[in-house]
Amino acid sequence: MACTTSFVLLVLLLVLLTSSLATAVQFNVVSYGAKSDGTTDSTKAFLKAWTQACGSTSPATIYVPTGRFLLRNVKFMGPCRNNAILVKIDGTLLAPSDFRAIGNAGNWVFFKDVAGVTVSGGTLDGRGANLWACKGSGKNCPSGATNLGFTNSRNIVIDGLTSLNSQMFHIVINGCHNVKVQGVRVSASGNSPNTDGIHVQVSSSVAILNSNIGTGDDCVSVGPGTTNLWIENVVCGPGHGISIGSLGKELDEPGVENVTVRMVTFVGTENGLRIKSWGRPSSGFARNIHFQHASMTNVKNPIVIDQNYCPNNKNCPGQASGVKISDVTYEDIHGTSATEVAVKFDCSRSNPCTGIKLEDVKLTYKNQAADASCTNADGTSTGLVQPTSCL
Ligand SMILES: *[C@@H]1O[C@H](CO)[C@@H](O)[C@H](O)[C@H]1NC(C)=O
Repeated sequence: MACTTSFVLLVLLLVLLTSSLATAVQFNVVSYGAKSDGTTDSTKAFLKAWTQACGSTSPATIYVPTGRFLLRNVKFMGPCRNNAILVKIDGTLLAPSDFRAIGNAGNWVFFKDVAGVTVSGGTLDGRGANLWACKGSGKNCPSGATNLGFTNSRNIVIDGLTSLNSQMFHIVINGCHNVKVQGVRVSASGNSPNTDGIHVQVSSSVAILNSNIGTGDDCVSVGPGTTNLWIENVVCGPGHGISIGSLGKELDEPGVENVTVRMVTFVGTENGLRIKSWGRPSSGFARNIHFQHASMTNVKNPIVIDQNYCPNNKNCPGQASGVKISDVTYEDIHGTSATEVAVKFDCSRSNPCTGIKLEDVKLTYKNQAADASCTNADGTSTGLVQPTSCL
C-alpha cells in the first residue's frame, strides 16, 4: 500500500516537472497591481512582473490583458536568467497625458541587454500630439521619447504590435542582432515631426515584414552600422519614405551593407527609395543595396540619392560627402511621381556613386515621361527604363 502511494506521488511529481518545463510560467501584470482603468500608474506593476520573468530560470510570459494601462517610461533591463520571454499584450499601453513626464527619457517602453524577447500584439499609444504642437509653436520643448526601443539585444521578435502617436521615433532597433519585426502597424499624423516608423542602426540581421506605416517622418530609416537588413511587403504613407541615412554625420562611422527592400508600396510620400548623406568628410559607406518591386503613387522623389545634406549649410566644409555609395540596384520600380524629376542621383564630388543599376523602371509624371538627373553617378541600365537613364 505504502509502495503504491509513493509510486503515484512520484508519477505526479514527474508530470508536474515536465509540464512546468513545457509551458512558460506566466506573470499577469494585474496580479502585480496594474490597473486597466487608463489612469492608475501601472509602471511599478509592470516592473515587478518583469523582475519575475527575467529572474525565472524557465521560459516566462508576461501577460497584459485587455484594457488601458497607464505607464511612465519603463526600462526592462537584462541580462535575464532565461532566453525566452514573451510579452503578450491584449490591451493598450498608454503614455502619460502630460508629454513632459516622459519627454526627456529618450525611450518610453525600453528593453536593454536582453536576449530572446518577443513582444506580441497590443497597442502602444505615445499620446504625442501635444508635444508635436509644442515643437511646432517654436517653444522650448523636450525632444520626446521613442515608443518602443531595443538596445544591445539579440533574438528579438516584435509581432502584431500597433504603435500610435509616438512623441518621437516609434520603434528603434539599436545595437541588436537577429531581430524580426512583423505585422506591425504604425500610425501618426503626416505632419508630426521626427516620428520615424522604424529606425535601425548599428544592428545586423534585421527583418521588417508585412507592416503598414503611416507617419510624419521616415517610414523606415536606416542608420550607420546596419548590415543584412531585409524589408519586405511594407506599405508606407504618409511620411518621408524609406531612407538609408542620414549617413556620414560623423568622421569615423561604420557603413551600411547588404540591404534588401522589396515589395514596398509608397502612397503620397515625400520620398520613395532614398539614400542620404551629409556633405562632409566621413569613413561611412553604403554598399550592396537592393531595391526591388516597388510601387509608387504620387511620390515626390521616387528614387533619390542625396549626398549634399547639410541643414542650414553649417559645418560641411566643401560640401563633399566622404560616404562612398556603391552597388545599388533598382529593379522593377514603377508608378507615379508627384514632381518632374523622378530619378535623382546627386552623389559626392570626392566619392562618386559607382555600380548603380537600373532595371525595368517606369515612373511617370502627369501621365508623361518624367525626368532623371545625375551628378557624379556611374552605373548601367537594362530593360525598359523611364525616365531615360542619365547614368
Ligand atoms: C554581405 O553579403 C555578402 C554576400 O552574401 C557576404 O559575403 C557578406 O559577409 C555580408 N556582409 C556582412 C557585413 O555581413
